[in-house]
Amino acid sequence: MKRRDMLKKSLGGGALLAFTNPIDLISNASKVQAKDSSVGNPLRFPPVFTNGGTMTLSETNVNVWPGQNTLGMVINGSYPGPSVVIQKGATFTANFVNQLNEPATIHWHGVSTPELMDGHPKDAIPAGGNYTYTFPVGNRGGTYFYHAHADMRTAEQVYKGFAGFFIVDDLAELPLNLPRGNFDIPLCLQDHRIADIPQFTYNVQMNDMMFGYLGDTVLVNGTPEAYLNVNTTLYRFRILNGSNGRVYKVALSDNSPFHIIATDGGLKDAAVQATSFYLSPGERVDILINFSSYAIGQSVTLKSQAFSAPGMGTYRQGIELDLLRFDITGNQSSGGVVPASMPSITYYNPAEVKAARNFILSVAGGTMNVHKINGLSFEMERIDWQTPLNSLEEWKIVNATNNLHPMHSHEAQFQVYSRNGITDLAPNDKGWKDTVLVYPFETVRTLVKFTEYKGIFLYHCHNLEHEDDGMMLNFKIVDPIGINETGETLPDTFELKQNFPNPFNPSTSISFDLNVSGNVEMNVYDQTGKLVATLVDNYVPAGSHKVIFNASGLSSGEYFVRMVAGDIVKTIKMTLVK
Ligand code: C2O
Ligand code: CU
Ligand code: CU
Repeated sequence: MKRRDMLKKSLGGGALLAFTNPIDLISNASKVQAKDSSVGNPLRFPPVFTNGGTMTLSETNVNVWPGQNTLGMVINGSYPGPSVVIQKGATFTANFVNQLNEPATIHWHGVSTPELMDGHPKDAIPAGGNYTYTFPVGNRGGTYFYHAHADMRTAEQVYKGFAGFFIVDDLAELPLNLPRGNFDIPLCLQDHRIADIPQFTYNVQMNDMMFGYLGDTVLVNGTPEAYLNVNTTLYRFRILNGSNGRVYKVALSDNSPFHIIATDGGLKDAAVQATSFYLSPGERVDILINFSSYAIGQSVTLKSQAFSAPGMGTYRQGIELDLLRFDITGNQSSGGVVPASMPSITYYNPAEVKAARNFILSVAGGTMNVHKINGLSFEMERIDWQTPLNSLEEWKIVNATNNLHPMHSHEAQFQVYSRNGITDLAPNDKGWKDTVLVYPFETVRTLVKFTEYKGIFLYHCHNLEHEDDGMMLNFKIVDPIGINETGETLPDTFELKQNFPNPFNPSTSISFDLNVSGNVEMNVYDQTGKLVATLVDNYVPAGSHKVIFNASGLSSGEYFVRMVAGDIVKTIKMTLVK
């Protein structure tokens, strides 16, 4: 059997088993327990999507809790949606049909796509419409996913089931001898509310808006009280947090160690042993668990350990939850190993940062648009900043709230550099990331570079209630500094001319010629060096430009105009006479 088929088989192998078990809740196990398969439901696997096929989104009954119907918003009648499994380098195509009575769009989270394939809310497909998503898959092998992204409808549509795996398989991983086939298991975690069983009722109250729409039971691949029969061997689990707002502290019930081998953007540079890790909405972590120390007949449970977090009410962040019970039932070997070494990752050098941007997360009083980034709420038409291609940037996230915010960038995998200045990172932070959890009052520095496509993309909090509340900005990836339309590299120079008139009162014009497009900053300072005005702070196309400086609020004296583009700084002096 081809490797690809084996992976497919593993994903589709357990598809849609019949449920005959009662809905008893599994009690929280604190250690290895005797196996009791009379409780719970066998872990389900979504069907595998056939590349080039159709993804039809509709409001459809799905079977989640045994013998009961749940009205979901799902792709091809499946919750979670069908799993995409695709080779790195192949072209992915899906014909999307929106049969909902509202707009919808599919976003390929973590996957680099051209602007119009990214599922931005501006490109939502109207009710009854359809659209073909197609793009070459250039990402590293890894665990990605797709989900709803229509404006202010993301949270509800995801909660109702509109999400699925997008797994990129890279044959270059074969020499590592990681567990594959039936021993390579995707796990999608989504919390729901026991009180609403069997419905995915979505009715956001104030508390939900603040802390996320949290549940008190976790569905794994859409399975309530899930269990999986495993062998006494090594397994790979690809764990996706597909929840709206819940953060998990993933661990085994007996605190056994496992190995973290991948983050959002694929394999790490080393398998790192751990006993727990945090996984926030949008994040993925792949782990290797070795069941060889258990005896047939035993069980151990993957769970979310209790942790302290802000929040209150019935559905609290940080409560202990069971995720998936492993029943040890066989002794087949996966043949997989924990790799002694893995291909290296080139870490960005902060000394090479070309532009630094700050993102201040805040929350204001009120009921709508209270979650903000740099004081801004999302505006569909507004571009909040421009980032040139191939330019390393530092994005510093300052969380000024007593709340958790998983910050996600579309279009590129980035690297976490430090948390509160500490560069010694947890294994789930180190590697390629597209989402980083920022704890209350924390400052996280990330290094990011866009190398593929130009266009408008999103940066937002992946707590979906926060996102829908407007904690999201648009940025535009533009031509790089120093490269003209034909791709020719030009010297990075500009001319800053003397202002006219000079002396002036109260306004004067300042002209400059830029020989290449680039980010320009032009500030006016007084004689003491105090900043009095910012005249330009954005990406400026090559050519001649003129800005007007109005000094009506200032007093007579000398002022300095300082212009920065690339590595070059130029200054002129001007005189205000009132
Ligand atoms: Cu997974 Cu913009 O989102
Ligand atoms: Cu995304
Ligand atoms: Cu948030």
